[in-house]
Amino acid sequence: MNSKHRPDTQIVHTGSRPEEQQGVMNPPVYRASTVTFPTVDAMNEAEANRFDTVFYGLYGTPTTFAYEEAIAELEGGYRSVTVASGLAAIAVALMAYLKAGDHLLMVDSAYGPTRKFCDNILNRCGIETTYYDPLVGGAIGDIIRPETKVIFTESPGSLTFEVQDLPAISEAACNQDIKVMLDNTWSAGFYLKPFEVGVDISIQATTKYLAGHADVMLGHITAKSEEDWLTVKTAAGLMGHGGEPDNCYLGLRGMRTLSVRLERHQENAMKLANWLAARPEVDTILHPAFSQCPGHEIWQRDFTGASGLFSIILRNYSRERVNAMLDGMDLFALGYSWGGFESLIIPFDPRGSRSATKWNAAGPALRLHAGQEDPDDLIADLERGFDRLNDKV
Ligand SMILES: Cc1ncc(COP(=O)(O)O)c(C=O)c1O
Repeated sequence: MNSKHRPDTQIVHTGSRPEEQQGVMNPPVYRASTVTFPTVDAMNEAEANRFDTVFYGLYGTPTTFAYEEAIAELEGGYRSVTVASGLAAIAVALMAYLKAGDHLLMVDSAYGPTRKFCDNILNRCGIETTYYDPLVGGAIGDIIRPETKVIFTESPGSLTFEVQDLPAISEAACNQDIKVMLDNTWSAGFYLKPFEVGVDISIQATTKYLAGHADVMLGHITAKSEEDWLTVKTAAGLMGHGGEPDNCYLGLRGMRTLSVRLERHQENAMKLANWLAARPEVDTILHPAFSQCPGHEIWQRDFTGASGLFSIILRNYSRERVNAMLDGMDLFALGYSWGGFESLIIPFDPRGSRSATKWNAAGPALRLHAGQEDPDDLIADLERGFDRLNDKV
């Protein structure tokens, strides 16, 4: 597709080839394990090109290829690789580059299971992880070692929302044979273009905004260069990871409406955050568009928008009062994944999953996902929740 098109146009048309499928707009779902060939020569040729042609179900079908093409265009990378979940994408990307004796720099605010992967799987493989302050910026150069092979970032952190200085981190890593990886799920690849801020490998849980309807598990890894794409694709294949065609179909379908959905998530989240900021129950708003949020200026510089996920820190309420608030919510559901049409809320306490930084919040923390509902109904739900928090009902 013409890469000069603006993002809204791009996401509507990318990966679409109706002329190759009898005029049908969306690529059909090609499910495959077995793929057959007319001759031995054709079979050998397909095997030699197994990442580019339909050779074996695991390596891709026209549906997964269409989705990968669209994702790569959305993120502005060379090519993408799809796998079964966002966590699988993180694991595959790290395993593709790390071996025994290597050192990984992992952001302290990373998604919890990313941390667990480092501590339980990479550790067992003889790969050492050092956690670093998400606000380290260019000073990351001081903790890079000769054996450091990957710097992993997540910006903003998906619980605590620190925005990382990716250009400064990438600058410190450049010319040192270190790959900078980003978990780009919060921006959906729409509000942050990872390769413009120096990242080598961008990872997303398609599960969230791309699929967008709370019913798909899927992840992808986008590489900036052909060499990196081949490294990741080879590792995924060797470990038996591939994108499931039905889910790739849903991911691509979700992408077509990504812009309008994100706009609504953004608007609703801003409305909720502004209302919450004026409430006496709330101590801090952790939303990248708020000046209180660590790294707010970097968000202003590097991102073109904000999605619907943010956190708040309450004043010093007991766990019982917080539970009373959350147990009675009408519209906000208690649930971990996010990026779907619905509003969500969870309590969290990062103290057990920090080692490079200290979490010194005044009170308990809540993460909210602003869904697509009418924001005034969401505010009314929160208002009733605050009554329960204050023991007024
Ligand atoms: C920031 C972030 N990255 C990755 C993941 C993992 O995605 P999945 O649920 O598809 O494994 C999540 C899931 O919550 C997430 O929040």
